[in-house]
Amino acid sequence: MKNKSLLVILLLVILIKAYPQTISVIPQPSMVKIHAGEFILNKECTILFDETNEEIVRIAGFFDNYLKKSYGLRLKKNDKGRSVQFKLANLPDLGDEGYKLQVDKNGVTVSANTAAGIFYGFQTLKQLLPLNAEAGNLSVQALDIEDQPRFSWRGNLLDVARHFFPVSSIKNYIDVLASYKLNVLQLHLTDDQGWRIEIRKYPELTEISNWREETLMGHLRSSNEYDGRGYGGFYTQNQIHEIVKYAAERYITVVPEIEMPGHATAALTAFPNLGCTGGPYKVETKWGVFKDVFCAGNEETFEFLQNVIDEVLEIFPSKFIHIGGDEVPKDRWKECSKCQTRINKEGLNDEHELQSYFVTRIDKYLTSKNRRLVGWDEILDGGLAPGATVMSWRGIEGGIKASQLGHDVVMSPTTHLYFDYYQSENREIEPLGIGGFLPLEKVYAYEPIPEELTTEESKHILGAQANLWTEYIPSMKHAEYMLLPRLPALSEVVWTPAGKKDFTEFEKRLIIDYERMKKSGLNFRDHRK
Ligand code: ACM
Ligand code: ZN
Repeated sequence: MKNKSLLVILLLVILIKAYPQTISVIPQPSMVKIHAGEFILNKECTILFDETNEEIVRIAGFFDNYLKKSYGLRLKKNDKGRSVQFKLANLPDLGDEGYKLQVDKNGVTVSANTAAGIFYGFQTLKQLLPLNAEAGNLSVQALDIEDQPRFSWRGNLLDVARHFFPVSSIKNYIDVLASYKLNVLQLHLTDDQGWRIEIRKYPELTEISNWREETLMGHLRSSNEYDGRGYGGFYTQNQIHEIVKYAAERYITVVPEIEMPGHATAALTAFPNLGCTGGPYKVETKWGVFKDVFCAGNEETFEFLQNVIDEVLEIFPSKFIHIGGDEVPKDRWKECSKCQTRINKEGLNDEHELQSYFVTRIDKYLTSKNRRLVGWDEILDGGLAPGATVMSWRGIEGGIKASQLGHDVVMSPTTHLYFDYYQSENREIEPLGIGGFLPLEKVYAYEPIPEELTTEESKHILGAQANLWTEYIPSMKHAEYMLLPRLPALSEVVWTPAGKKDFTEFEKRLIIDYERMKKSGLNFRDHRK
């Protein structure tokens, strides 16, 4: 009897060893072929890479650091023996971001047309490694992967205006985005409650506009209590450089958002002459949409904004510059003689067309600097500026309309991609949030291409972006909780071929991913609770 059990165990061990393991990669790659066998990564192995290519050297360095930090393992460099190789190649079917990853008993090869592709291959390789090393030996499943993203805009917005996060936190945040192969971080840098970027021509923006007297406690709908504590913070231009460089080394473009003509109270507090009434104004201490916006009839407004943009363009290489454009009450413009004079002089029909005039002027300015304007879908009201790209947030209608007009679009509807919404219907068990309900399954099910579009029109859908507004998110730990695990779900929306998505199967991989999150010290919400 005892011998029989031993035999069964032995057989099981042999079977487990011989039978290909499943792998657990998020986002799910386009093509995976699992083979029998494994590669053993240990200190006898070497990393092979081209030492003359700065980017490949950096990625090989990331891998080296990762092995050291996670497993205490050091590999040899460009030496003999079994190897992990990172190499540029000519792979006509794999585009600018795709990669090929091959594992057999002799080694791992990551190849791609570009360093970005190599970087994504490295992200996949990390997820193929076991969570724990057995005596310094890491078993990697033998396989072939060919993979590339479905969309070119795989974005996440972080609002650093309502609450401010230091550079070190932004770097950790970028690491999380990179691990799921996202490639855009939109930083929402200015709003009614704070201005968060140094503009050298206007030091008042970081002496006055960056500081609010106090902050609302509790929810806007139910509270009238304030904390009585001043709150502020901003990034110097040197810090922005540091963030942009850190992101670029991880193939993430930082898209700056400078809000206009609305969400401008903080700027107006330092420059009351740029508002219709002349002020005085006060950096807002509660959340919401406010009536005081930049005056569209005053030439000084455009002079100011163009000077701000000039400095923004110097520190952000991003082709796309986000100018906000959302939630602009027209009350002040209706009452303002300068705005009304502008409407008459320009032959505009109403204040919506005045908003269009405003955005079009900024669009022309950005185009003249070889950049592209992107704005929230309200920029469609009153006529879309010729070069504008639309970020569709109040649903998908704005995105449909813009792509039918031949404009590029990023999909970011509140219904599926607002990560500040609650993750559970039972709000009692969740930290205070803005409202809404956006469970993991709903994010995962999101399809960025609306059915209404023709094949030609759908080419204008650059991708999708999830937004993390931080009115109710004062700390990075809380931000992580809102992001994880909805970000991994988003990564399959924007990376994985639609036909390969499968929620039940994703969940199995996610449960393994939770172990990686734990190991990285990330604060996530287990969706099973
Ligand atoms: C937005 O959520 N106001 C773009
Ligand atoms: Zn005005």
